[in-house]
Amino acid sequence: MPSVTDYAIPNPVSENKGGVIGRAVDRYEGPLKVSGTAPYAYEVQPPSPPAYGYVVGAEIGCGRVAAIDDAAALAAPGVKLVWHAFRKPVQAERGAKANPHSQAAAEPVFADDEVAFWGQPVAFVAADTLENAREAAALLVIHYAETSPDYHFDPLKGDLPPGEDDVRLGDFEGAFAAAPVQVDSVFTTPIQNHCQMEPCATTAWFEGDTLVVHTSNQSIKRPQHLLAETLQIHREKVHLMSRYIGGGFGGKGPSYEDLTLAALAARDLGQPVKVAFTRQQMFHASIHRPATVQRVRLGATPDGRLTAFALEAATHCARHDTFTEHAASFSRALYAAPNRLTGHRLVRLDIPVAGAMRAPGEAVGMLSLEGAMDELAEKLGLDPIELRIRNEPDSHPETGAPFSARQLVECMTDGAQRFGWSKRNPKPAQVMDGEWYVGLGMAAAIRGNFLLPAKASMKIEADGTVTIRQGMTDIGTGTYTILAQITAETLGVPLDKVVVEIGDSGFAPAPGSGGQFGAASAGSAALATGMVLRKTLAEMAVADPASPLYGAQASAADFRDGLITVENRSETLAGLVARLAPAGVEVEGASSPAADARNFAQHAYGATFAEVGVSSVTGEIRIRRMLGAFACGRILNAKTARSQITGGMIWGVGTALHEVNRVDERYGSFIGQDLGGYLIPAHADIVDLDAYFLPEVDDKANPLGIKGVGEVGICGVGAAIANAVYNACGVRLRDYPLTPDKVLVGLG
Ligand code: MOS
Repeated sequence: MPSVTDYAIPNPVSENKGGVIGRAVDRYEGPLKVSGTAPYAYEVQPPSPPAYGYVVGAEIGCGRVAAIDDAAALAAPGVKLVWHAFRKPVQAERGAKANPHSQAAAEPVFADDEVAFWGQPVAFVAADTLENAREAAALLVIHYAETSPDYHFDPLKGDLPPGEDDVRLGDFEGAFAAAPVQVDSVFTTPIQNHCQMEPCATTAWFEGDTLVVHTSNQSIKRPQHLLAETLQIHREKVHLMSRYIGGGFGGKGPSYEDLTLAALAARDLGQPVKVAFTRQQMFHASIHRPATVQRVRLGATPDGRLTAFALEAATHCARHDTFTEHAASFSRALYAAPNRLTGHRLVRLDIPVAGAMRAPGEAVGMLSLEGAMDELAEKLGLDPIELRIRNEPDSHPETGAPFSARQLVECMTDGAQRFGWSKRNPKPAQVMDGEWYVGLGMAAAIRGNFLLPAKASMKIEADGTVTIRQGMTDIGTGTYTILAQITAETLGVPLDKVVVEIGDSGFAPAPGSGGQFGAASAGSAALATGMVLRKTLAEMAVADPASPLYGAQASAADFRDGLITVENRSETLAGLVARLAPAGVEVEGASSPAADARNFAQHAYGATFAEVGVSSVTGEIRIRRMLGAFACGRILNAKTARSQITGGMIWGVGTALHEVNRVDERYGSFIGQDLGGYLIPAHADIVDLDAYFLPEVDDKANPLGIKGVGEVGICGVGAAIANAVYNACGVRLRDYPLTPDKVLVGLG
């Protein structure tokens, strides 16, 4: 049975003889993207002129489509087909699964007349041009029958999520009541939308009986299997590609009607079809992060030891769904306290479908706990960092499992030093700069680390080029680049000799991008596959009388500078392959988590520091300075990793100051439906923001010793800002985002 010791660090990546790992290597696909030549799904040129689809969203929030008059739409110029609940394509029943191994069941379009949420796709038009499709769609006369909806999120009306219980340890209520120092605070976070730069989009056509699909999705297998089940064709007949993706953030974990409609229409029209959601449609038709109401109760001794700890989070999901924003889960691993209570409540509403958004759980959960910790520090007269250090656990506070690598304290103390934390005046509202109150705040960051099984293939050609192929995705995170680095380092070839091909269902399967497990999962498979190729090449060399390595020990072979070497004998990889396998040598490899990997509590950690200005006149909050210190295992690429972290931190600024969507409870729609009404940080909001990594190798995490960096960057950031606002002006805000109106009320 494999164990963490089977991760066999050191290995070529950790030895890093080529110096490729950890370097600030430029994006592999960067030139293609900045020159506009990386084709995104909607831009792929099909073999013949496509038809264009337009999706129509429901204009009620709850009820059913009673009737549709589509005569005018069908007669409109250029229209090729019109579909809705009463005129739909041949497709499998919802939930059908002909292949028991499918990773998805059938999702037929317009399966019935039910309207479960505002903006739910209820009709589709395909025409010769997008304009004609949209014009015809406007001619559809849709009659609805509304039923009585529930659009209002009442956190007290929640139920336990299915299969979940509160997690209790000791006697929270008794310990909290007896605690000499208490904090009892309620925090609220709003609905947020992913707002990927690239909306969901699909281009599909048939080549013979094979469905060729280019779509924008975080994984490959799931949408491939979903189409196979929905169209009732063999999955091998679905060639699905997702090569370039303009942002995912969890919102492209599911697939949507653009995928199924494009495929079905391509089949029925015998012509390529392109379908994309508009920016406005994305807000309803794709998932969002649900709102939360979180109550945090902390009880402590006068010297700052937590004796009682509770985080109770209520959130909402769609009527027929169970997605839960696990805002309390992270807190089970963060601070020591003998008496604990954490749990979630779920309220089902007739609004669009909630789902995972970057660091689901932590991203909004840390806004509450890390604010409450700041309140407790103030009550205790302790520095917020000192309070956290006093409650640093030796092992997982609930399971007792040992941590893998945990440098939370180091992130806080090292970051504090670099940031100049000692300049902070613990008393609020003491520092002014003109009309601006100035203050400092900090928060810890934690995000789970995961590893999923993955495969890859690798081929070396007679010219020494090495191509890695993997059914993996790059949602803008740097997957292409780190796969190139790992391949180059493992085979000992220069980076420019490596070709990376991903995002294709024809390639060895990988789990895709999500949960910040992408680099670890895909990268571990790349390393494993590289090791298979090394072994294959070494055995070829030592068995070949024409090789200078003839008769040497294959297991002693070293790979460096394009050479295969045993002691003082070597030859070029290109020469070896050209001589023995002119068509190239191709191998497959796989990796999976060590059997005992879960015996260790694994997380990425960080600490964020913020200096803010709060206008005493307008209540506006400006970020003056931010620094993040992170410990995420070995860093594969200094540039892409830092970009992930700073991107997360910028998103954290948005969480703190800008992002909010609300339900219009008259209709069940979201009020924000474009980037004019749904605000995210702009360049002017981000002045001086930096992040760095502490040296670390997590040898319990995976063979690379790395941990995820895609999501930990957003965690805690908003709380650091809220804490800085309090330090600046003495206004404690617990309702995100921290908009000027709330500041002004606090300033009085
Ligand atoms: Mo992520 S929000 O787990 O893609």
